[in-house]
Amino acid sequence: MTISSKWNFPTTVLFGEGRIAELPAVLKAAGISRPLFVTDPGLAKLPVVAGTLKLLEDAGVAYGVFFDVKPNPVESNLAAGIAIFEAGSHDGVIAFGGGSALDLGKLVAFQAGQTRPIWDFEDVGDWWTRADSDAIAPVIAVPTTAGTGSEVGRAGVLTNEATHTKKVIFHPKMLPVTVIADPALTVGMPKMITAGTGMDALAHCLEAYCAPGFHPMADGIGAEGVRLVLEYLPRAYADGFDIEARANMMAAAAMGATAFQKGLGAIHSLSHPIGALYDTHHGMTNALFMPYVLDFNRAAIEERIERLAAYCGIDGGFDGFRQRVMELRAELGVPERLRDLISGLEMDDVRKNLIADMAIVDPTAGGNPVELTRDAVLSLLEKSM
Ligand SMILES: [Fe+2]
Repeated sequence: MTISSKWNFPTTVLFGEGRIAELPAVLKAAGISRPLFVTDPGLAKLPVVAGTLKLLEDAGVAYGVFFDVKPNPVESNLAAGIAIFEAGSHDGVIAFGGGSALDLGKLVAFQAGQTRPIWDFEDVGDWWTRADSDAIAPVIAVPTTAGTGSEVGRAGVLTNEATHTKKVIFHPKMLPVTVIADPALTVGMPKMITAGTGMDALAHCLEAYCAPGFHPMADGIGAEGVRLVLEYLPRAYADGFDIEARANMMAAAAMGATAFQKGLGAIHSLSHPIGALYDTHHGMTNALFMPYVLDFNRAAIEERIERLAAYCGIDGGFDGFRQRVMELRAELGVPERLRDLISGLEMDDVRKNLIADMAIVDPTAGGNPVELTRDAVLSLLEKSM
């Protein structure tokens, strides 16, 4: 193997309970005087948002609010956000929430100053160089879930409604300038969201760790991230107020997104089309496919997984690790089969073939340790049914 790689490590992260109080100072340091606060409609009604907006009011910050964000953000959400950003003469974004709010906040800050359509900046080759990087507004990211890790990422996912595909929009300057990772903001997360987002973090750490390529730092971060999720996700799920568990999950989420610059794999390649076609929860969909993808990749990853199992204190090598994933799924109430995840699911051959076509061209497919073919996708779908 050639030892040649490109490593990118994230940004300033202010980590700890209560650190949201530093938001006004963080805005000032970033030179943002008129932030647009982007969140999702569910969170907008909760005290966690009211409390944060009060911090801004008390500090005399002139802010705007935008929360018209779908769980899987679409182009019309972006257009609406940009209109508000421009109407309010905003000079930066506070992206506050789970993956969809963080991604959309980053996309608004990125796209507001661009003249080309957003799809011109898909994460393909060097398309990001088409952007006017001086026109990208700064973002302060405040995650309120522990899964996506979008707070430390340089991309945002947007669903193209015309083609029902999720597109990754990438630019190095989409990386938030500062992250406030305050685990106290996650204590109100419902159990289902705790489980789903936590399993997304696990999928990021695991797929990055298994992806081919020379990236020992990502491997180390991914392995420790897996260990943290296995130890702390059951605790965070059982008791949402367990702040130590919440903090460790918040760290694991950021670690997953840091590690996956190395690559993701077939869990995500399958999860993306299913999410785009059926609007399923991304993390729950990942969790559903995880054991089948482990099996599919076994020949290529067995040795790695044995090492990982030993590091996590799991007996039985690959089989022991797979068993632990199955136990975790059961403990968290993850649907066992696709039809448990999608009510009234009817999937004919045309639909299965469409999913296979989408999965093999998904940007994550190239990171799978074993080549993801159409037949392989069809077989993985069959197993998940
Ligand atoms: Fe993910």
